[in-house]
Amino acid sequence: MPASTRPLLLALLGSPCQEGANSRLLSAFIQEAGDWEIVRRSLPELKILPCLGCQTCKQNQPCVQPDRMPKLFRLFERAQALVLAAPVYFYGFPAQTKAVIDRCLPLWYLESQRRAPVRLKRPGYFISTCASQRHGEFGVIVREAKAFFHTIGFQYTQSLLVPGLDGKPGAHRLNLALQHARTLGRQLNHLL
Ligand SMILES: Cc1cc2nc3c(=O)[nH]c(=O)nc-3n(C[C@H](O)[C@H](O)[C@H](O)COP(=O)(O)O)c2cc1C
Repeated sequence: MPASTRPLLLALLGSPCQEGANSRLLSAFIQEAGDWEIVRRSLPELKILPCLGCQTCKQNQPCVQPDRMPKLFRLFERAQALVLAAPVYFYGFPAQTKAVIDRCLPLWYLESQRRAPVRLKRPGYFISTCASQRHGEFGVIVREAKAFFHTIGFQYTQSLLVPGLDGKPGAHRLNLALQHARTLGRQLNHLL
């Protein structure tokens, strides 16, 4: 497909570890989504400032925090599909990624004031890992991810949740998960 006509897949890394498990899983996913135009961003590297709860955005005024969040909003708008990969930190997202999610409050107000979805739902994939072997460890982060996807106009289409990534057995689990990530990426490719 010519580059100019390719739809955009926005690939977000939510881990501060640039070479960690989530980074590798994200790479495996996008490797197989070859027919998409891919824009990859590391959320921690964007250094997005936290929401101050001032409610300025409720009045449709620009956010008081001076950073690159408007650029991220433009990418949310342009993307036809989304994949987010982030580890569990104390049941939730790493602080840098949670800051991005909180800063989506203007979009949440937009939707609630219009009383209609911001736009048609586009496919969204969620990848997450944790050290614990308990699958229940993902309960909170999955709820947060669903709320985030919904707020920025993506459907929570499918997830790849990988527990038990500590120690030697973790390496084996990560290899299996990399295969699953490639399968998910191929699945997205078939949507084209
Ligand atoms: C600050 C911090 C908090 C963490 N909290 C949890 C947790 O609550 N439950 C868990 O199972 N693992 C927890 N972990 C482990 C990470 O989720 C795990 O190592 C993950 O695979 C790291 O992914 P990454 O290599 O992509 O950064 C925590 C790690 C850190 C650094």
